Amino acid sequence: MKKVAIVGAGQVAEKVHAAYYQTKPEEFLLAAVVDPDLARGELFCQNNQFQKAYTSITEMLTAEQPDIVSVCTPNRFHYDSVMSALEAGCSVFCEKPPAMTSVEAQNMWKRAEEKGVVLAYDFQHRYSPEAQMLKENIALLGEIYYSEANALRRSGVPGWGNFIDKALQGGGPLIDYGIHMLDTALYLLDFPKIKAVSAYQFQKIGTKKNQGTFGHWDPAKYTVEDSLFGTLEFEHGGILRINTSFALNIEPDKVLDVQLCGDQAGANLYPGKIYLDQAGELEIIKEATHAENNNHFTSIDNFCRKVAGDPQAMIADGRQGYIIQKVIETLYQSAEIGGKVEL
Ligand SMILES: NC(=O)c1ccc[n+]([C@@H]2O[C@H](COP(=O)([O-])OP(=O)(O)OC[C@H]3O[C@@H](n4cnc5c(N)ncnc54)[C@H](O)[C@@H]3O)[C@@H](O)[C@H]2O)c1
Repeated sequence: MKKVAIVGAGQVAEKVHAAYYQTKPEEFLLAAVVDPDLARGELFCQNNQFQKAYTSITEMLTAEQPDIVSVCTPNRFHYDSVMSALEAGCSVFCEKPPAMTSVEAQNMWKRAEEKGVVLAYDFQHRYSPEAQMLKENIALLGEIYYSEANALRRSGVPGWGNFIDKALQGGGPLIDYGIHMLDTALYLLDFPKIKAVSAYQFQKIGTKKNQGTFGHWDPAKYTVEDSLFGTLEFEHGGILRINTSFALNIEPDKVLDVQLCGDQAGANLYPGKIYLDQAGELEIIKEATHAENNNHFTSIDNFCRKVAGDPQAMIADGRQGYIIQKVIETLYQSAEIGGKVEL
């Protein structure tokens, strides 16, 4: 039986992490939760069958000595929480994004390796039936030279949490939402070596409006980008475009997709299909089944199986977390300096 602790008693901790651990009472002892707000931590324990709430991670780690720690704090606190848990010899499942900077993500990756424990990130879209169908059949596409990772919302500035606060989040739609499609694209492309990165970002709506699909926000406190459009150039010559927004004047409410274009066939993630052109006619050669899947649960389940030593378990590991963080950081850097950044 593995002893589990959760750091950050918010909505993802409850709906995803605690919900998953509760499905396997024979495997997990729900020991503790850490939150600076003790009342919130105690309510979380009551509602999710965890035993004890703490306000200090150090105190919790010393008292409880858990095997597994789920990190669900705002982005700004991922690094300290993950490093403390790794230091205590715990395996860690950390929410996305890995951290605020690539140096932090690199330290986390290296420390997990030194301690011989598992570090994984919750990039759940790569576990979707659609992504798995594409991964299994990726060879059908031939040489993939153009791809897009699109995570766009017309009017989706989050009206809750810390999502508009750059100091706590590290950025806006790119680090919060675009990162999912970026991860899935890089996973499907097998993390090709990146040569250069360029991006443009805009803050045209969040500081002027105060209401959208996801509620109200204070425009005076809006410090992140509304939208960002970037390009990754790979050493093999291909490119990946990333387009992401909380708010952008487009027709659909949202676009969430990865598109891959190869010299033999093309593919989309949502809905998952592979197709090619037959003398001007589109032929769909593979389609994902529409099976219900809780991608979050599959993501945590792979982490837990990895901790248990299952060689088939597939995780977004420390190295991949570092690469993704580096890409995010470099996209922001390019947007700020207004030029291409060579890697
Ligand atoms: N994988 C996904 O699709 C997904 C979805 C939602 C959120 N997330 C990620 O999960 C994280 C949390 O998001 P949320 O929506 O649950 O936020 P939330 O605001 O609902 O919860 C955050 C909790 O962390 C607590 N907290 C703040 N500082 C802390 C600290 N130093 N130590 C311990 N606890 C602390 C807060 O009091 C709060 O209870 C973010 O990093 C977010 O990006 C990922």
